[in-house]
Parts: sequence; structure tokens; C-alpha cells
Amino acid sequence: MRPKYHLSAPKGLINDPNGFIYYQGEFYLFFQWNPDTLEHQNKHWGLQKTQDFIHFTPTEIALAPDQSYDRDGCYSGSARIENDKLYLVYTGNVRTEKRRNSYQCLAEKTDRGFVKRGPILEKIPKAYTDHFRDPFYFRRNGQDYFVIGAQSENQKGKALLYDWHDLKNPRLLGEIKTNFREEAYMWECPNILQFPQKDVFIFSPQGIPRERYRYQNIYHSLYSIGELNLDNLSFHSEHREELDYGFDFYAPQVLQSHQLLIAWMGVPEHEEKHLSQKENWLHCLTMVRVLSIENNRLLQRPHPNYRILRNQSQSIEKGEFIATKLGEIVLSLDLKEGASFELLLFKSENYETSLRFKEGVLSLDRDRSQALSGVRRLKLGDISKLDLNIFMDQSTLEIFINDGRYVMSSRVYNEEKEVGFVLKESDGIEIKAYQYYSFEVKK
Ligand code: FRU
Repeated sequence: MRPKYHLSAPKGLINDPNGFIYYQGEFYLFFQWNPDTLEHQNKHWGLQKTQDFIHFTPTEIALAPDQSYDRDGCYSGSARIENDKLYLVYTGNVRTEKRRNSYQCLAEKTDRGFVKRGPILEKIPKAYTDHFRDPFYFRRNGQDYFVIGAQSENQKGKALLYDWHDLKNPRLLGEIKTNFREEAYMWECPNILQFPQKDVFIFSPQGIPRERYRYQNIYHSLYSIGELNLDNLSFHSEHREELDYGFDFYAPQVLQSHQLLIAWMGVPEHEEKHLSQKENWLHCLTMVRVLSIENNRLLQRPHPNYRILRNQSQSIEKGEFIATKLGEIVLSLDLKEGASFELLLFKSENYETSLRFKEGVLSLDRDRSQALSGVRRLKLGDISKLDLNIFMDQSTLEIFINDGRYVMSSRVYNEEKEVGFVLKESDGIEIKAYQYYSFEVKK
């Protein structure tokens, strides 16, 4: 069940990607990691380096929670290169009986590994609670900043901006004002990035109520396209939407220099149900996605490197069963009025996961799959074309819809012998392309 081309850790629990950066010819992927148990405790920064997002170096510990200012967790943060040196900024989490403290801390890569330089920010600004974490570094017009997730005293999610031109001494600029509805009680993991046309603000709000077609998971990750104004500290949103419509996606981080995004392929809910617990590991990261803006929407396409994995290509017919849980499916359809179909994935004698299209809604249904359950729905409405690009990796499923306009990411387990996929029932569809690429993941 362990994925072959996704980042996972040999043991323990992983969550958010951290410090995603390209440094001296390699991509550094750090992540929240409890190396010892499968609980959300004792968070380290794990590290795997990669050139291609397919092959990763063995997991190293970059930061361990071993100081007075981070003893209850080296929480999420980001990376920054300054004079060819690699720095990390992260949240040191410290719990006392009554409250928690949050220190923003610096670490530096040296020949002896990552060396902590201690807190650079010890105080939480007035009018905000101790939910204050996840500094994300970015550069704009030659200036250095970080944005950090916060909660106001009246329990609303916020993002604060710091001037970070002096590495050891960030200076508070203020709260970023937005035109969002105030529904969330906390914003975790804010990210800011820039495209030639627009700015994008990404964040992971907690507390937005569940709806039938939106916000279906416990917590959500949203993007907003608009304009960041650093003079009056505002972000004016023109469009706001979830980044992913699947079951398992949270706390993404972007890499501005390459316009990439990666996320935790998990959420902190029903974690005990994951069958990988038997093998003493939990969760993985998503595939890496390339970001772009078209028609004021964020497109997320699979990184082109994944094409290296393609081994043999096979044209398939409706009704044909292909035994596999590794590889890529390309399915392009023209849809007539009332079109419907069902694609069964991770299907075996007793289990299946269904991707259904009916009345303009694409549903991913795990109720008949092993261990995990539930339905996630994406309302597509009245469309005449549907392009699906589906990636499977043993226990992961990532569905890119209409060339990256939407994505659904989910974990799926099936331990039975013969597991595969088949396009079943359909009505009112014309198949333009239906292809399977087997993958070979070379060591
Ligand atoms: C998001 C998050 C962050 C925090 C980290 C702790 O999943 O809660 O806000 O820094 O995980 O592991």
C-alpha cells in the first residue's frame, strides 16, 4: 500500500509540507513528522531531497523539538535563501498548563546539518490569541516579508504581515485586510504568490461550515485570486475557491520560483481508519502540481516529470477491466444532455471506489471501498466536455479535471488480490480518448 512515487516516511506520521525550496541543484521537501508514533505529537521537520519529485533521498531529521522554545513541536514554516545560505523559519510550539506559546524561530543549514539560531519573534501581537503560527517567506519588489496565520481575540482567522528584511528581527506591518466573509476561527498555513497578471493568496481556514458541494472535509484549503496591496495592507479577492475537492488535501505550500504546489495528502480526521497504521506509517504528500492562472482561475496540472513514469500505453474499451493500482488513466468525453457514467477504481471482488458523473455532478464515493468511506461531490453543471487525468499510486488517487481546473485527491485502500479499474454504466457520452499508461518506477 505504500506509494511508489509520492513522498512518504518510513515510519511515523507526516503532515504539512514545509520549507519547499530549490537549493543548489535540488528541491528540498521538508515536512511535519512525528518519527515515533502515529499521533499528532512531537513534531519534527523531516527532510527528503529530490531532483524530479519521483525519487527522494532517505528521510533525515532536519529539526527536532529539543529546545525550550520548541519543545512541544517544530511546527510548520518555510525556507529562505540569503547570500547562498539556506535558512528555515518555523513555529516553536510550547505548551504550559494554561496556554500555549508560539515562537517564530530561525535555523540555518551548515556542514553539520541544520543549526538552530533560536527565536526571532517571541511575542504575539496584542489583540491576537496564541494560535499564531506557520510563517511563510516571500519576496516582493525586492523586499522580504513573511505572512503568518493568526486568530483575532474575537476568534476569527487572520493573516499578519511582517517586514523580514533583517533576518534576526522581523517587524510587524499589520493585519492583511481582505474582503472575505469571516467564517473561519483560524487560518493556518498562509501562502502568497505572484503571477504576471494577479496575486494569489492561499490559506487553510478552520471552521467554515460544511456544505453539500463545498467545504466537505473537516478543514479546507482555499486559494484566492486578486490583488495584494502592500501600501495599505489589503488583499482584494476577485475569486475564491477550494484548491481540491477530494477527501485528503490540506496545508499546501507553494514554491514561487517554479510556481509549484504540494500539500499534505491527508486531514486530521478518521486517521485511525488508515490501513497503513498496520505498517506503522501514516500519510503522504500529494503529487507536485504546476500552477498557472487562466480566466481568473488557478489551474493545477501534474508536474510534467510524472510523464517519465509512463511505460506502456494501452487504448481501452468501455467494460474492459485493467488490473492495476499504479499508473495513469486519460479519459476524454463529449457529453450530451443527461450524460452519466461510472468509473470504478481500486476495484476487486469485494471493494470498489466509484467516480460517478450524473446530473452535472462528479462524485467520488468510497462507501464501498476498504477502510475509508464517504462521498465528495464536485458540481460541474452543464458541461459538454469532460477530461479526466487520473493518477493511482497503490493507495493514492489524484483526479485532474478539465486540464487542472479542478482536482480531487484521496487516499484509497484495497488489499485484495486483483485490483483494477473499469468504465461501467454510461449514457449520453462519446468517448474521445480512453488510455491507460502503466508506470515503471525505477529505483
Ligand atoms: C496544519 C498545522 C499547522 C501547524 C502544524 C503542526 O496542519 O496544524 O498549523 O504548524 O500543522 O503539525
